[in-house]
Amino acid sequence: MTKYAGGALIPVIPIRHDDSATITVQLVAALRRMILSGQLPAGVRLPASRTLARSQGVSRTTAVNTYEQLAAEGLLRSLVGSGTYVSDTILPPVPAHEVPRGEDAVPPRLATLSRDASDRYYTRLAHPDTPRAFVTGMPAFDVFPMALWSRLSARHWRGGRSGVMRYPDPCGLMELRRSVSQHMRANRGVTCAPEEVFIFNGAQDAFNRIASMLVNPGDPVWFENPGTVGARNSFIACGARLVPVPVDAEGLDVAAGLEAAPEFRLAFVTPAHQHPLGNTMSVSRRFELLRAAERTGAWIIEDDYVGEFHYGSHTPPPLKSMDASGRVVYVGTFSKSIFPALRLGFVVAPPRLVEMFERTAAAMLQGAPTGAQAIVADFIDEGHFTTHIRRMREVYAERRDALMRAADRDLEGLLTVRPTETGFHTIGDLEVSGLSETVVAGAAGAAGIATAPLGRFALSPIDRQGLTLGFSAVPAARIGRSVAALGRVMRGLV
Ligand SMILES: Cc1ncc(COP(=O)(O)O)c(C=O)c1O
Repeated sequence: MTKYAGGALIPVIPIRHDDSATITVQLVAALRRMILSGQLPAGVRLPASRTLARSQGVSRTTAVNTYEQLAAEGLLRSLVGSGTYVSDTILPPVPAHEVPRGEDAVPPRLATLSRDASDRYYTRLAHPDTPRAFVTGMPAFDVFPMALWSRLSARHWRGGRSGVMRYPDPCGLMELRRSVSQHMRANRGVTCAPEEVFIFNGAQDAFNRIASMLVNPGDPVWFENPGTVGARNSFIACGARLVPVPVDAEGLDVAAGLEAAPEFRLAFVTPAHQHPLGNTMSVSRRFELLRAAERTGAWIIEDDYVGEFHYGSHTPPPLKSMDASGRVVYVGTFSKSIFPALRLGFVVAPPRLVEMFERTAAAMLQGAPTGAQAIVADFIDEGHFTTHIRRMREVYAERRDALMRAADRDLEGLLTVRPTETGFHTIGDLEVSGLSETVVAGAAGAAGIATAPLGRFALSPIDRQGLTLGFSAVPAARIGRSVAALGRVMRGLV
């Protein structure tokens, strides 16, 4: 119903008395909407506050307060003796027929990509928040040295205020860059200057920067198929032309990559523990990849997310340690080797990209939290990091063994669980014909068991069905019970 009064026509505004917002707030919101939508255009005179009060059934004070609030927002102006007007500075909205409609408009690139990406890319990949079998990529929170960490944290925060409260250097805290370069030299066979190390808010943040720095829209990017989802989406968002390259027991099939896209601009690989299949890239494949990149001037992104965790007799060094020609951008993360809430990762850049990393860091002024960086630097420098890694290798090896033993006992004929010498998870190949990996993962999820179908990681269809089985997050006994439960779920589906 519309009432007429002196000044513009103001429809009766429905007021909710059970609303937590006051009557004034509700009136202000409704009038603001009318002004901004053009229903009350610039220059229009509004009814006197007394008239507004009467027509809306509110007190005069409420009406006055409403006008005052809108005047304070610049939407109304009062002229003494003349009345209250919608401010002249408000531009009318563009008429509906001139606004491109939804699908016809040109949405921003990332929006287009996520719309066109289909469920394959857009599945909600929430990181698991609580440890349970068989989440992947989650370190063992239960054995983390929390008392030590608390001591190091408290010591840091007792430091001088300007040291702990200032903006961080966008390239990373020099103390941490130094600690990482020493750690990489002493323990990973990678020689790099602290200035070649750049700190990021996790590996994912590094992938985003690398993709936008090194890839132009349409550039061919070799990507492991199946492969990790987060990095893949960073390259998609930059408009890369992703080239799915098959992986086998030796890792990325370089010959297949060369056949599909010989002029590749960049290759993304997980040599220590292929994500998600879990194979370690063979030495000959590493050389093939390096030579292919040298020949085409391509970059190689080495995602060494679990490279510290090897349970065999020797730890294969990162691809970066073999990179004589400076084509490899190494990406490390503390999400697995310390804990993911830190949101800290790092890049070891080849010398010819150092300046570009410095310039883009300076231009974006991002930087990771100083406190977290300083505490990690102390954790490394005081030897706790290597002690922790050594201890965790034993813990994860024990959990891996528990998984393999339980799988032999409870999953025979259902899943063949692949032995692995590295990382936080392995793969179970589905052995029951006619049963879909998605159905099994769904039924397992309903029973409280976390596992992902391999297809989730496929860029183009792969002729293999299986499930990811993480073994890092929970103790051996729980892994055993969960394998038995998974066996029951699967037998119920056969
Ligand atoms: C393959 C892979 N790379 C890197 C990471 C680490 O990412 P971030 O350092 O952003 O936690 C993950 C995390 O799960 C991963 O699965």
